[in-house]
Amino acid sequence: MVREDLILGIETSCDDTGVSIIKTSITRDNPEEINLDILSNKLASQTELHDKYGGVVPELASREHLRSLLPLTKQALCEGDIDPSCLSKIAVTTGPGLKGSLLTGLNFAAGLAAALKKPLIPINHLEGHVLSAFIETRSYPKRNFPFITLLISGGHTQIILAKEIGEYELLGETVDDSIGETFDKVSKELGYGYPGGPIVEELAQKGDPVKYLFPKPLLKKQGLNLSFSGLKTAVIREITKCKSSKERYWKNNIAASLQNTVSILLASKIKDAIALTGTNLLVVSGGVAANHHIRETLSNLCQAMQVNLRLPPKHLCSDNGLMIAWAACLKSLFQEDYRIEELKVRPRWNIATRD
Ligand code: KG4
Ligand code: ZN
Repeated sequence: MVREDLILGIETSCDDTGVSIIKTSITRDNPEEINLDILSNKLASQTELHDKYGGVVPELASREHLRSLLPLTKQALCEGDIDPSCLSKIAVTTGPGLKGSLLTGLNFAAGLAAALKKPLIPINHLEGHVLSAFIETRSYPKRNFPFITLLISGGHTQIILAKEIGEYELLGETVDDSIGETFDKVSKELGYGYPGGPIVEELAQKGDPVKYLFPKPLLKKQGLNLSFSGLKTAVIREITKCKSSKERYWKNNIAASLQNTVSILLASKIKDAIALTGTNLLVVSGGVAANHHIRETLSNLCQAMQVNLRLPPKHLCSDNGLMIAWAACLKSLFQEDYRIEELKVRPRWNIATRD
């Protein structure tokens, strides 16, 4: 054995508390293959708490993280049968995200690291999502670089070129709302709860995807930026019109048409990004990547362009502690200029920069 690690990963950037413990080892013969043992992966969801407000309430989220962190960490240690003194590192998300939520996680992790005299590794949440696509293959994706990541979540909609571990270029992003926000808002307007994505997806199953021709902002514009606020406004206008309608499946049709429009927009920009960079791998990550229609659309595109596609399993698309522990493992093993960054929260931390 060359190197063995026991890493505790903590994620509190938004509304889910994630705590995971992984055991990793690499051998001298095959350093790119990582023996990964997921000893525990615990999640405390705050969905019910925020549901009645139709979105995440930052103050409530921080308070709930504070409540959950200690019991969840105890459960993770117990499940993995780990004595805390055996941990080799503690990794924690320090940005981007909600300031209060990030501070709660960082303070908890820093306290634990100081008490146990273990190194504390700050992780960029977006880098956690990017690298989560390689958890299933349990490998260091060296030969896959450079690759494109489409990060679609409640907080972000970005097209990122991953050049190396720790080296990323932002190729394009939404100029207004994220896709997740668009789904959440439309779900609320249709009279349903939060998070809206899974609700819209379920409604769409019985809907006609071409019933409404919604606008496709920036589709014909050059560049890889995206925009969703005009689409969102058009959908809401249609909902207002339909409320007096006697048509049985109007909500389903709206959901299906929205989902279809979003898929067309994403596929078009990803097609351009692949052509521009000449990469042969697309990684899709973030909560919205759980959407079946979007997965299928991107899968068809990749097949047509003969590009490999890597989609994390649905439970790893949304926020979790495992991706934070895994990112810490890959960075400390394989990032050439790796150094532990300053320990402070960065609510607007851009993946392409160190600040
Ligand atoms: O990555 P994530 O868990 O948290 C953030 O970092 O934002 O993403 C949450 C977002 C929410 O907006 C939620 O509505 C959306 O992901 N989402 C979905 C689906 N599941 C979750 N959107 C579309 N289809 C889904 N199946
Ligand atoms: Zn996320």
